[in-house]
This record gives sequence, C-alpha cells and structure tokens, in this order.
Amino acid sequence: MSARGGYTLAAMEHAPDSGPETASQAGLPELSVVVPTFNERDNVTVLYRRLEATLAGIRWEVVFVDDNSPDGTWEVVRGLARKDPRVRCLRRIGRRGLSGACIEGILASSAPYAAVIDADLQHDESQLPKMVALLRSGEAELVVGSRYIEGGSADSFNRQRAGASALATEIARRVLKVEIADPMSGFFMIRRDRFEQLAPQLSTQGFKILLDIVATAQGKLRTIEIPYTFGARQHGESKLDSMVALDFVGLVLAKLTHDVVSLRFLLFAMVGSIGLVVHLVALFIAHEVFNAPFAEAQAIGALVAMTSNFILNNFLTYRDQRLKGFAILRGLLLFYLVCSVGLFANVGVAFSVFEQEPIWWLAGLAGALMGVVWNYAMSGLFVWRKR
Ligand code: GDD
Ligand code: MN
Repeated sequence: MSARGGYTLAAMEHAPDSGPETASQAGLPELSVVVPTFNERDNVTVLYRRLEATLAGIRWEVVFVDDNSPDGTWEVVRGLARKDPRVRCLRRIGRRGLSGACIEGILASSAPYAAVIDADLQHDESQLPKMVALLRSGEAELVVGSRYIEGGSADSFNRQRAGASALATEIARRVLKVEIADPMSGFFMIRRDRFEQLAPQLSTQGFKILLDIVATAQGKLRTIEIPYTFGARQHGESKLDSMVALDFVGLVLAKLTHDVVSLRFLLFAMVGSIGLVVHLVALFIAHEVFNAPFAEAQAIGALVAMTSNFILNNFLTYRDQRLKGFAILRGLLLFYLVCSVGLFANVGVAFSVFEQEPIWWLAGLAGALMGVVWNYAMSGLFVWRKR
C-alpha cells in the first residue's frame, strides 16, 4: 500500500515502509547515517559537524555503532547525543566486526533511507544529498560511492592496498558476477526496506558489507554509482590488516555455496592438518633425538600438536573471538579436553569402519573426519563460544 498524502497514524501502521513524504510530515528522519566506529574518538565530532553542515535541507539522524572502543569513542558520542537528539549511540559489548556493526546500525533505524559512512573522514560526506536525491526519485534503490569510475579516485591508497583492492574487485566480478565498479566500497546509501529483506542472508563477519549486499541481491537491486575521492585518514589508524583477505575468501565461499561451506570450518580443518605434521615432527624429535620411549614420545607429540592447533585457531580461525589473558589458559585446557574426546571418537569410528571393510585408508579417513567434525563442533560450543 502506498502512503502518500495526509494519512493518519493508524494508516501508517499498515505501511511501515511508507515513503519519505509521510516520514517528514511526522517529523521523523528521512535519512539515517550509520557510522561504525572503533577507536575513532578524535574523528566523531568532526564528522558530526560535517554531517550537520552538509545535510542542512534533509531530516536526518546519525547512529554510531561502537564496539566498546578502548579509547572511549562511545563516551564522546554520548556527549554529542546529550546535546542533539538526532545523534544516537549503539554501544556493543563483547563483539567486533565492521559488517555486523553496519547491519545492526541500519536495522536500529526506521528511516526510509540508510547510509553507511566511515568515521575517519576518508569518505566524502558531501555526496550524501546527491545520494538521497537518487533514492527519492526512485532512480536507484542503492547508491554506491565509487572510487573506480570516472571522477572518483583512491589516490590515498598505497601500492599494496590499491593492488589488493583491484584483485578483490576482479574476483568479485568473475566469481560472484557482481557488476558494479567498486563493490569493495564502504560508502553507500540504500532503501531500508530493501535492506531489511536482504539482512537475514548477510554475513555479520568481515568487512565487505556492500559486496555482500550486492552479491546477495543477485542483480535485483537497482544500483547507481557516483564518484568520490577516498581521502586520507585524519586521526587514528586503519583496522584493516592482511587478515581481511581471509574474510574476503570466506565471504566469496559462503556466497558461492549458499552458506554450505564455512570458512571457519575450512580453517579449522587446515589447522588440523598442520597439527598432524607438527605431531609427527615432535614425535620424531622426542623418539629419535631424545630417545624417549614410543608411548611417551607419542603423548608428547599429541600435546605439542594440540597446543599449536589451539594457538593457530585462536589467531586465525577464531580471530574475531580471540581469547586473551587468563581466558587463554582456560580455553587451552578445554581444548585439550575436547580433542581428547575427539581422539576417542576418531579411533572408535575408524575401528568400526575397519571391522566392516578392512580398507585401512578408508577407516583412517572416516576416523579423522569424525575427529575434526567433533573437535570443530565442540570447540565452537565450549572453547570459543559466542558471548
Ligand atoms: N564498530 C566497529 N567494529 N567499527 C569498526 C570495526 C569494528 O570491528 N573495524 C573498523 N571499524 C570502523 C572504523 O572505526 C572506521 O570508522 C570504519 O569502520 C572503517 O575502518 P578503517 O579501519 O578506517 O578501514 P579502511 O579505511 O582501511 O577501509 C575502509 O574503507 C574502504 C574503502 O571504502 C573500509 O570501509 C573498507 O571496507 C573499504 O573498502
Ligand atoms: Mn579508514
């Protein structure tokens, strides 16, 4: 139902995604600007002032989504919010992640349009009114700030970042059939009702929220790109490290396989195979170099392998939920426990397969698969459990 003209509140209840005309009549914001922040204390006030200046003719609000920044960004945002009701602060505790923060920020708003912009002033907020105009006119459902079309640029990138960005864009285009020029952009505006339809399929892990949106929509989102210049960071530092490459691979895999293959499981299995090599090396050193009896050398090998698996998983597989401080010790002990039970499961399954069908490699493979699935499931439940 379309809700143009003078509708009462009762009528609006049946049209939750009514157009901007209704929203402005009720004094509600037309645009919600979502700003993910992590350690951006010195940038948020400047961004707020710039939004205020550039969005003068528009009803807007800004939602800062802060992952409990150690520098107290959320405190600064609260200060702004106390003076201006258009400012809101969503402080998330025990969670990290750019994509997840953007998703929650957009879903926290009820404005018809939502924009995502970085806090560090690298994106060009003066493009926002143009983006609103394109959504208002119905020409687009998604407007992307693009560095890679005529008039845009990413000169502030160093060689390495520029190369990585170009490679990821090319992969997205070929593998996920994403047609836009800059799917890696973190600067865009979307109709909230369209976003809400896609939201359940989006990945909360990782950095590439726009790529996820575009890939998930499978060409069904009317999209326009407008050029902008990716500026230099004002204060603080980038949170992107070389590990974003992993997030990217994970997203591509998930989209390709409709969420059947998870990067986490692949990483866990990969760490497991590295553990096998570690085990054999430790066994060799203990048994051959230090002349330990076989049983003891084997136990040492297992202990060394479990420890190195734990460390690798903590840094790689579960880096977004990395255990720190005292929790590391507790996690390690739990991991030993999980893996020991996993070993029983492994041997048990291998034996019963071997009894049925005495093919050593088949039985071994079945046992190993049982072991890794068990270890993965239990580690997720007990060692790196979501808080
Ligand atoms: N809430 C939250 N949680 N915010 C985060 C997190 C997090 O874990 N990590 C980063 N942010 C916030 C930063 O505070 C900043 O406002 C914004 O997300 C972008 O992070 P940067 O660390 O500045 O990333 P970048 O400049 O290297 O890359 C950005 O721009 C690229 C080009 O548009 C990102 O937006 C990339 O995704 C994008 O490709
Ligand atoms: Mn940045």
